[in-house]
Amino acid sequence: MSMASRLLLPLLLLLIPLLPAESKLTLDYYKKTCPNFAQIVQQVVADKQLAIPTTAAGTLRVFFHDCIVGGCDASLLISSNAFNKAERDNDVNTALPGDAFDVVTRAKTRLELECPGIVSCSDILAEATRDLVSMVGGPFFPVRLGRKDSVESRAADVEGHIALPNMTLTKIIDIFASKNFSVQEMVALTGAHTIGFSHCSEFANRIFNYSPKSDHDPSMNPEYVQGLRKLCANYKQDSTIAAFNDPMSPGKFDNTYFVNLQRGLGLLASDQAMASDPRTKPFVDLYAANQTAFFQAFAHAMEKVSVHNVKTGRKGEVRRRCDTPNSMQTN
Ligand code: HEM
Ligand SMILES: *[C@@H]1O[C@H](CO)[C@@H](O)[C@H](O)[C@H]1NC(C)=O
Ligand SMILES: *[C@@H]1O[C@H](CO)[C@@H](O)[C@H](O)[C@H]1NC(C)=O
Ligand SMILES: *[C@@H]1O[C@H](CO)[C@@H](O)[C@H](O)[C@H]1NC(C)=O
Repeated sequence: MSMASRLLLPLLLLLIPLLPAESKLTLDYYKKTCPNFAQIVQQVVADKQLAIPTTAAGTLRVFFHDCIVGGCDASLLISSNAFNKAERDNDVNTALPGDAFDVVTRAKTRLELECPGIVSCSDILAEATRDLVSMVGGPFFPVRLGRKDSVESRAADVEGHIALPNMTLTKIIDIFASKNFSVQEMVALTGAHTIGFSHCSEFANRIFNYSPKSDHDPSMNPEYVQGLRKLCANYKQDSTIAAFNDPMSPGKFDNTYFVNLQRGLGLLASDQAMASDPRTKPFVDLYAANQTAFFQAFAHAMEKVSVHNVKTGRKGEVRRRCDTPNSMQTN
């Protein structure tokens, strides 16, 4: 090494990483670069939720499905194109409601006017989800910021990362464990089913021709079965029919979901299984008895979800449009 480069190299190393390769998320990440970030997201979210009350549940599910597949990087917001099928078009994601994507787009549009090129789509999704959960009665949790967005999204990457209602509880526990979520955290997070809907196809096997012995799943409350059968009578013709996940307080984020499970009012097979399996029942019983305990556990677990595998610093990019990586944008 020449004398000159021996002197230059350390100097260059000092100068190049203006952006650290990786860095920690912080609560005040946009304090200087976009001071109205939180206020703008809050306002867009509130307007949207008041106009379309299903936004909160949809956005919470979108956020979870984004984070649990390759980290919270807004890869789920990318649209497919002629050359690529994106995460959003994997079967498990096709029922995600357009309003959840729209609330992020609206916030992004406002933020690009206010501070162009600064705020990532993944930070918007995380902040919006927290605001929406609080707005419908759920716990507040701090959202640290500074995520970068992914530069790609592939439908095939979703495989194996998202639990399905017809999986065994062992399989579901394994999926969460593979992402470092404990059984207790899994039960708390699934308390998200205190809001929102499931389409009839997700639980039809529990209410129609369940088995040679019983026409419905015997772990279900019989009156609940009757109601769901009526609702879903035409589900094969009309795939849009959906039932409340929490029939007792469908729009309110509370612990009623767990009380329901104790009474056979769990909608999905995976929900109901948690109330009887000895690995999960203690937590179902705890959260059914104590909403404060549920809220604390949910808030902690959501904070953990929100930092799962995040990209920071020079990894990823701040997408200009949330539905398209910057390299694919023409304008
Ligand atoms: C234990 C494993 C889980 C399974 C098997 C599962 C499965 C499902 C299914 C099948 C639906 C219905 C989708 C539809 O028909 O449109 C649903 C809805 C929902 N899930 Fe989960 N889920 C699980 C855990 C979670 C977690 C951890 C969260 C968030 C923290 C979550 C949030 C939601 C929300 C908010 C909805 C309602 C969506 C809406 O109304 O648009 N789920 N889930
Ligand atoms: C579970 O449901 C999915 C999608 O509805 C289906 O593709 C899969 O075959 C089912 N698995 C089992 C074990 O029934
Ligand atoms: C796994 O979760 C525990 C408990 O939340 C946490 O303390 C630990 O840092 C996590 N480990 C990894 C590798 O993320
Ligand atoms: C409910 O849970 C909270 C938080 O864990 C705890 O502080 C409180 O003592 C519990 N309440 C009852 C009645 O057990």
